[in-house]
Amino acid sequence: MCGIIGYIGKRKVADVLLTGLKNLEYRGYDSCGISFFSNDEIKSIKSAGKIQGLEEKIKNTEIEMGHLGIAHTRWATHGSASEMNAHPHTVSNITLVHNGIIENAELLKGELLEKGYFFQTETDTEVVAALIDSYYQGDLVSAIFKAENRMKGSYALGIIVKGESDKIYAVRKDSPLVIGYGNEEYFIASDISAILEFTKQYVLLEEGEVAILESSGVKVIDSNYQEVVKKVLLADIDAERQSKNSYEHYMLKEIMEEPILLENLIKMFVDSEKMVISNLPDVSKYEEIHIVACGSALYAGEVGKYLLEEKSRIPVFVSAASEYRYRSPIYSHKTLVILISQSGETADTIAALRMAKDRGIPTLAIVNTESSTIAREVDDVIFIKAGVEVAVATTKAYILQVAILSLLSLKAAIAKGIIRDSEMSFLFDEFISLPEKIQEVLHRNYQNIAKEIYNSSTVFFIGRGIDYTMCLEGSLKLKEVSYIHSEAYQAGELKHGSISLIERGTPVIALITSEELKDKSVSNLIEAKSRGAKCIVVVTEKTEIEEVLKIVVEELSSFTQTLLVVPILQLLAYEVAKLRGCEIDQPRNLAKSVTVE
Ligand code: AGP
Repeated sequence: MCGIIGYIGKRKVADVLLTGLKNLEYRGYDSCGISFFSNDEIKSIKSAGKIQGLEEKIKNTEIEMGHLGIAHTRWATHGSASEMNAHPHTVSNITLVHNGIIENAELLKGELLEKGYFFQTETDTEVVAALIDSYYQGDLVSAIFKAENRMKGSYALGIIVKGESDKIYAVRKDSPLVIGYGNEEYFIASDISAILEFTKQYVLLEEGEVAILESSGVKVIDSNYQEVVKKVLLADIDAERQSKNSYEHYMLKEIMEEPILLENLIKMFVDSEKMVISNLPDVSKYEEIHIVACGSALYAGEVGKYLLEEKSRIPVFVSAASEYRYRSPIYSHKTLVILISQSGETADTIAALRMAKDRGIPTLAIVNTESSTIAREVDDVIFIKAGVEVAVATTKAYILQVAILSLLSLKAAIAKGIIRDSEMSFLFDEFISLPEKIQEVLHRNYQNIAKEIYNSSTVFFIGRGIDYTMCLEGSLKLKEVSYIHSEAYQAGELKHGSISLIERGTPVIALITSEELKDKSVSNLIEAKSRGAKCIVVVTEKTEIEEVLKIVVEELSSFTQTLLVVPILQLLAYEVAKLRGCEIDQPRNLAKSVTVE
């Protein structure tokens, strides 16, 4: 997803903009650029590729830079990842950066061409700049509101205009944008993490508002041209917590944070002495639950389905948000829609949320980013408190999402009185022992297994029951960071077609932790092995199996087993990616938060 940063103040604008862009790198991008005033003229410097290329150009330029500018990292949607298509884009008086997608850009472009505008790029962003310019007659706020009336889609815009060298304008719809308040210096940013080393004070720009940043302060105007008084918030994320500390990659750092974060989550929600789960909603009153999410959050939802149905006996339907939002879901008067999202800005998940709300269906979200759109619009929200997750491939957020879903299932079972005290006590004890157990498995070495698969062209993950839900995330992690094709398959399904893909040496990673299903899973593994598969197993100490490539874990109940096994699969994916020399924290083509459809 694209990143926006803007600055006005006393510092050298290039220093601030480059720092902000680097803090936004985790969002994924393929080109970047900055614009600033130089002797009242707007100048731009842009680069395809990484920020280092832009930095080099800035270092070598003779152009005098002031103390105001805007900058952008672009993740290509309309138009290739080129310097020409990099933001900022200038059309006549207007220069801007944009995060989002303008769905009616082609229609607007046709109208603007008839008005005499011409376009140098394939981007929808250049159309936005031309549209605003076409309305600009000296009052940019008015021009912005008029342009907003014509645009369809999502946008966060940072805008500067010729002749106003002391102002930055900002406006948003669907895409996030914060306004940072420093000491006589002000910022715009896609998220607060970009400017934390400069300030922790920020306001959230709402839809239908335009912010005007000047060296004297910030003014926010609504569409009635009334000034809006905004509540200044204090970010609770410390810049140092974003550093990699001693780790080589953020992904590894964030995996290693899982035990302490789970410890914190237990402190927030679990009293194992009294066997009480507090500060979480009781979902037992609902007769059905729709879980809607994308990617890894969707796979956390699959685990949630398994546990909510097993423990609280509530029917659960899990859907990818990109599908759900275009279906006609059937709701009863006792339906709950649960949305899961690390960023809280995923466009499809937001759309699913809004669809449920439009139908008056209660919504609950499990979110990490507290200032996010989903967190603000949902009826009830549970914050997982994972801290900033910088690596594009989610790890700690997934674990905490699953942990919350586990507790929701147990809380509902207790509320319905359908769990025996003995089982309840066992599950509480097992849950609070997890941080230590995860700590142990995270400090083992999986490089021997990684070496067995890092040269493969495809890898199968197979499992049954809760093991299969773990396969989903294990497979996605491997694909995301190592670029090896992988498939998660119900172990019992493999023989119904896909086993034809097994060749000599094809790695098949079998998750066999479910005691009641292990014999069946083992026989499915043998079916693959007899066709030449290279078998790797994740088993509990109770499972006798002669496979040499074996990871043995403590046998836990289905309630907690995922939380012990998936961190191993995350580490395995990390080790494979390292062996392959991949860009682990920012895998190619990926963005940390997909705010476009
Ligand atoms: C996870 O590793 C991926 N980066 C991706 O699938 C992610 O889970 C998905 O895009 C959903 O993001 P969200 O949790 O921020 O909504």
